[in-house]
Amino acid sequence: MTAFWDGQAERFDRDARSHGEVYDKTIARAAALLSPSDTVLDFGCATGEYSVGIAGHVASVHGIDLSPKMIGFAEKNARERGLENVQFSRTDLLDASLSAGSFSAVLAFNIFHLLPDAQKALTRVHDLLTSGGLLLSQTPCLGERPLLYNLLLRPASVLGFMPKILKLRIADFEELVSHSGFDIVESMGWEDDAPVQWIVARKR
Ligand SMILES: C[S@@+](CC[C@H](N)C(=O)[O-])C[C@H]1O[C@@H](n2cnc3c(N)ncnc32)[C@H](O)[C@@H]1O
Repeated sequence: MTAFWDGQAERFDRDARSHGEVYDKTIARAAALLSPSDTVLDFGCATGEYSVGIAGHVASVHGIDLSPKMIGFAEKNARERGLENVQFSRTDLLDASLSAGSFSAVLAFNIFHLLPDAQKALTRVHDLLTSGGLLLSQTPCLGERPLLYNLLLRPASVLGFMPKILKLRIADFEELVSHSGFDIVESMGWEDDAPVQWIVARKR
């Protein structure tokens, strides 16, 4: 699916730079939860808009994404803003160069529903966090949408035009997070017109 996201990168960069209400709310909440000593991993960082947005509130940010085009825009983004505590890598969560216990917080925005195995990803996030580290996530839970809506999306995924999307239900996703070794500290709807769940969870 790298080609799909490469194809989205230019539009994504343009849209992300125009910071909507959800972006501002997310950065404000993340900044309130994090501190200047935090080392942050931004998983599925795309063009790095959240990475650069949070950089001024923490010690360092490492954004990772599978799409080379997204990473190219992210690097340009950080350069343009003169940020020196942000780095980006074209890789995924399982990259062995990411060491266990090396991040005090992980941002995972709009990514878990795109993965073939969300449980495996959550386990890896748990492994990468320091003891007591925080997962800040924002996850479309399309299992909450009417069945007809999901059926309409299906042909594009089956034909490979769009990534396969997990139809998560909120309660099931919360269960997955808890089951992966986290205590949920916040869980709430994050958008007025879409079933996107904001979950903050602390590594047990
Ligand atoms: C919907 S975008 C979300 C971007 C950003 N976190 C946000 O909320 O604006 C999903 C991003 O995840 C990346 N991605 C998908 N699967 C991935 C994986 N297994 N590892 C790393 N990045 C991945 C895609 O390339 C894409 O840039």
